[in-house]
Amino acid sequence: MAINRSVLTLDEFTLAQLRQFPTATGELSRLLRDMALAAKRVNVEVNKAGLVDILGDAGSVNVQGEDVKKLDIFANNQFMGVLKHGISCAGIGSEEMDDFVVFDDEVSNQSKYVVLFDPLDGSGNIDVNVSIGTIFSVYRRVSELGKPCTQEDFLQPGNKQVAAGYVVYGSSTMLVYATRRGVNGFTLDPSIGEFTLSHPDIKCPEAGKFYSVNHGNFFQYDESVRKYIDACQRKTKDAGGPYTQRYIGSMVADVHRNLIKGGIFMYPGTIEKPGGKLRLLYEANPFAFIVGVAGGLATNGKQRILDVQPASLHQRTPLFIGSKKMMEELETYMKA
Ligand code: AHG
Ligand code: MN
Ligand code: MN
Repeated sequence: MAINRSVLTLDEFTLAQLRQFPTATGELSRLLRDMALAAKRVNVEVNKAGLVDILGDAGSVNVQGEDVKKLDIFANNQFMGVLKHGISCAGIGSEEMDDFVVFDDEVSNQSKYVVLFDPLDGSGNIDVNVSIGTIFSVYRRVSELGKPCTQEDFLQPGNKQVAAGYVVYGSSTMLVYATRRGVNGFTLDPSIGEFTLSHPDIKCPEAGKFYSVNHGNFFQYDESVRKYIDACQRKTKDAGGPYTQRYIGSMVADVHRNLIKGGIFMYPGTIEKPGGKLRLLYEANPFAFIVGVAGGLATNGKQRILDVQPASLHQRTPLFIGSKKMMEELETYMKA
């Protein structure tokens, strides 16, 4: 049987990229391979979530006071485990853990990267068979190589990211990752158990027709946001409309759709939660980086997400992210 060599696996793709930079160490490629391996393990569990007794609350609450599902913990341990046993990561920060974890062994202390992740995003959707995901962010350490990594490695602004990515466990499983050189998407081919390049060089359409927001919170949003949502609902054909509202409640799936098809995703501050719900380090920053490399924009309403200097690991942020032209229109409402 002829093998189709035009379809690259994730490893083949990162190796092909490495070949263009003979001085590169391959540490980042190894790290991505580690993440892909953990994603495949998580994928297997997510797929059988309806079959086995892995559903439901794990009986604990995470550091932000939300119920933790069993799969959240499983996924957290998978990603932490591969990175700990790999040779490219000095430590991790996770949405599911109070504090960052320093691997602190001889090899890890020599590694130049730290990784932050949301192991399972949209986990409230697991028990109703709706897409969920994983989000991750890679930074080069600023602390001294050879020593354990420190807090300042984790509290870097998003514009210092070296790479970021996400996995969607959806109708198919996809891994999308960005470096400054571009965004590429890989679909898991279950027949060979490999992520294969399906979406090369993803660009976010400049304009789109999707807007994604939790309408249930409408009356808790600022007037500027309400006016923009109102304008979305009134878009005429001449003005690029009509728009379609789509909100899955899994940020990974919502932003993935808008990245591919063009659109805007919003999680504004509310009266109850003025600082918003999403986490700067685990959700907003990686997506701001990915969407930014693809040509889109992300703000908190006042400032570019990627320019925000984080003060703490679990800090929240309002988030507006998506196609450039839609973001620019939103910003005219925010400035008014
Ligand atoms: P997580 O499951 O990691 O806690 O994140 C869920 C997030 C995000 O994925 C989604 O966009 C948002 O929560 C939905 O929140 P609402 O239900 O408040 O709209
Ligand atoms: Mn999340
Ligand atoms: Mn989560």
